[in-house]
This record gives sequence, structure tokens and C-alpha cells, in this order.
Amino acid sequence: MSVLEIENVTKDYGHGRGIFDVTFHVEEGEVFGFLGPNGAGKTTTIRHIMGFSKPQKGHTYVNGRDSWTEYYINQKEIGYLPGEIALPESLTGKQFIKMMAELRGITDLTHTEYLIKKFELEQNGGIKRMSLGMKRKLAVVTAFMHDPKVLVLDEPTSGLDPMMQDVFIEFIKEEKQRGKTILLSSHIFSEIDATCDRIAIIKDGRIVSNFVADDLRHKETKTIKLEFVQKNDYERFIKSMSASDVMDIVLEKPQHQQVKVEVTDAKINQFFAIIADYELKFMSEVPFTLEDYFMDFYDRNK
Ligand SMILES: Nc1ncnc2c1ncn2[C@@H]1O[C@H](COP(=O)(O)OP(=O)(O)O)[C@@H](O)[C@H]1O
Ligand SMILES: [Mg+2]
Repeated sequence: MSVLEIENVTKDYGHGRGIFDVTFHVEEGEVFGFLGPNGAGKTTTIRHIMGFSKPQKGHTYVNGRDSWTEYYINQKEIGYLPGEIALPESLTGKQFIKMMAELRGITDLTHTEYLIKKFELEQNGGIKRMSLGMKRKLAVVTAFMHDPKVLVLDEPTSGLDPMMQDVFIEFIKEEKQRGKTILLSSHIFSEIDATCDRIAIIKDGRIVSNFVADDLRHKETKTIKLEFVQKNDYERFIKSMSASDVMDIVLEKPQHQQVKVEVTDAKINQFFAIIADYELKFMSEVPFTLEDYFMDFYDRNK
């Protein structure tokens, strides 16, 4: 049994909007990245997991319990940070924290104090006058004060300044170390790349890719950029390599005598043997990032 199970969930808002047949699982101790641009369906999916929204089709489960019918039990185990936060403006930060501690039946405030310190929350002022960043910090503290085993985070770093974004990423890593199960939605590649074990990409309400992050990090194909000193070398290379099974030419720039090629690791020695025959101005590997993969995906499927 997975900690979070999303099984064929559909919520059709009409005009092609909503989520369609969304399926993925988050295992215990895993950090799962849920990546997609604005409007892709991240929040809608998460609201189903939290039991705020009833699926038209399919089910979601938290530790085997249905999100919709067993909402109250599930809430106790999850720390949920919504994308858009709503806080009681008439209270001070301190009053809100006290209220949430009472609601959750927390008597030992050690973990709460730890979070306040970590996120540098100024809890004394009125919520109404807090900056957006400070409100988000308050939301973070009250979402995780009961030290939940499962964290569901909907674009958690939006509205935080860059330094606090780093603190938050460090917090996710620490929580992972402590064995937490984490679902992290984001449209920011770097934070997904820095934290996640598995990544699903959602586009127009549908999961279009679901993969182990390390498979992408250790991708077996390298992209290499070459520039030739001589124009006739460039032309000879293009001519003899266009039907080669050692490499694929992915980009030609005749005006600069440059090419970009893709070579699998298994053929890298053959590749070096071939290019030894040419005079090169430079050769460099183009690092492959999650962003490349994501953009490639979006472009290719347009
Ligand atoms: N309550 C709603 N009624 C109608 N359309 C909605 C509702 N909630 C979301 N949508 C639409 O569903 C799509 C997915 O939205 P959302 O899940 O918020 O995306 P994301 O969180 O990835 O930005 C969008 O096209 C959005 O406009
Ligand atoms: Mg959203």
C-alpha cells in the first residue's frame, strides 16, 4: 500500500478544464514532485487528495483511507500547505498559533518553537499587517506544528523571498531524512530537481510523464557541441555522420561551423575515434536539466 494513491481521478470543469484520469502513487519516505505550469491541474488534484473535492470518477486514498469519506482521520496525519492561504486577519500570529495548537491538541510546543525559529517568524504582530512572506511563514508553522508524517505542499515557496526559499528546500530535505512522505507541487524546476525522488508532469489536466528523478540525472545520452576550424571539415562531418549509427546530429549551424550531436554512453569511444580525424575549435558537453526535459515535453506535444 502506498501512502498516497490517486486512482483515475477525473474532475471535468468543462471547456477542456479540470483533471482527467489522473493516476499516481506516493510511497512511504518518498519526495514526489508534481510539476506543471499554471492551470495544469496541480491544485485540483491536491484538493481531491485532501478530501475537499469529490471526484466525478476515481478515488484518492491516504494510507488506504478514502480521502472523501474519511476526511477527518486523514487531516490529522497530513500537514497541508495550500497554494493560496487564508488566515484570520483579526488575530495576532501568536494568537493564531495558540488557537491551532489547541485545535490540534498539542501541548508540547517544542516542534512549534523549532519551526518558528527556523522560518524566522515574527509572531507578535497582527496578521492583517503582515507581509505576504510573513503570512506564508505563519501558514508553514501552523501547517507542520503537529509534526505530521505526510506533507502535502502546493507551490510552497511562492511568495517567499529567495533566502526563505532556500530554507524551505532545506526543510524538505530534513523532513525526508526524518522519513516523511512528501508531495510537492511546483512549476519551479530547480526546487523539484533539488528534492524529489520521483516526478510526475501534468499538462492540461493529464499526467504526461512519471519517472524516477535519478534516471533523468543519469541519462544515458550525452549532448555534445562541436565547432570545426575548417569549413570543409564541418561539411565532411555533416555528410558522413548524417546516416551514422554512432551519433545523431540534432542541430546544424553552418554559419558558425557548429553542430550539436547526441551520443549514447555505450558509443562514446567510437564517437571520440571519429572526431579525432577532425580539427576542432572546441568541444563541450551540454548539461541536461529537468527544465530541458520539461520544455522538450511541452514543445513536442503541442
Ligand atoms: N472551481 C473551479 N471551477 C472551474 N474551473 C476550475 C476550478 N478550479 C480550477 N479550475 C480550472 O481547472 C484548471 C486547473 O486548475 P488548477 O488545478 O488550479 O491548476 P494549477 O494548480 O496547476 O495551476 C484550470 O484551467 C482552472 O481554470
Ligand atoms: Mg495551483
